[in-house]
Amino acid sequence: MTDRQLIENAAFRLHKAERAIAFTGAGISVESGIPPFRGPGGLWSKYDPSCLDLDYFLQYPVEAWMVIKEIFFDYFGEARPNRTHKVFAQLENEGVLAGVITQNIDHLHQLAGSQHVIEFHGNNQYLICLNCGHRVKAAPSVFEHLPPMCGECGSILKPDFIFYGEGIPEIAFERAYIEAQQADVWLVAGTTGEVMPACGIPIEAKRNGATIIEINISPSEFTDTITDIFLRGKASEVLGELNAVLHGSLFSPMNN
Ligand code: APR
Repeated sequence: MTDRQLIENAAFRLHKAERAIAFTGAGISVESGIPPFRGPGGLWSKYDPSCLDLDYFLQYPVEAWMVIKEIFFDYFGEARPNRTHKVFAQLENEGVLAGVITQNIDHLHQLAGSQHVIEFHGNNQYLICLNCGHRVKAAPSVFEHLPPMCGECGSILKPDFIFYGEGIPEIAFERAYIEAQQADVWLVAGTTGEVMPACGIPIEAKRNGATIIEINISPSEFTDTITDIFLRGKASEVLGELNAVLHGSLFSPMNN
């Protein structure tokens, strides 16, 4: 099947879906200037992932916060949504997508206009106190001294996204698994499918009979196991083509 036929096949399934949802990973933010975690030039080839290990963070808060601030606030803070985020938001607005489940903490889906975003790993918009649970907006003033300290109890603040070894935010976990029961078409974009429990969501959806449409520049753990339609390419290019077909002559109702 040609790439065009694959795109049209994917567009048709989306068009006919009872409920379609997107599931995204770091790869969709690469075109916003945020490197992926894994693969060539990945963040974990430049930084030590132990900065996100809770035990290391508690033992070496200053060292951990120096790396965390550089990656997830300074670097990520400059990023803006790319076409992928914008098309997902547009398709949600048009009712083609019910929303997006994301492993990303960069908040770019919301900045692009997505309203129904399940942040499976939290986000970088707030810091939270491990002692009293107090949350503060991650404003520049918070980072004047490292580690940032809680204004309520004086303990160390951590980013409000999950560290290795931490549990998934309960509400996000529940909402994602409900989607895995209900959504019959999944657009899985920019993820290796390697990290549990996140990668278990599309697997559970497949087990429930969903159609998995995958977008990636290279095969992932999903491709030869649960993927029904593999659209190989950069997410922004593939989403652009998919969006054009959805709004083209093939699906005239989409034109209004
Ligand atoms: N378009 C589409 N896919 C891309 C692009 C692109 N432009 N660039 C890279 N990719 C793909 C890569 O081929 C890879 O499959 O995106 C994926 C990025 O993989 P990871 O960096 O491992 O990201 P992800 O799968 O989201 O990681 C899951 O691991 O470290 C944790 O919490 C972190 O949420 C993250 C989780």
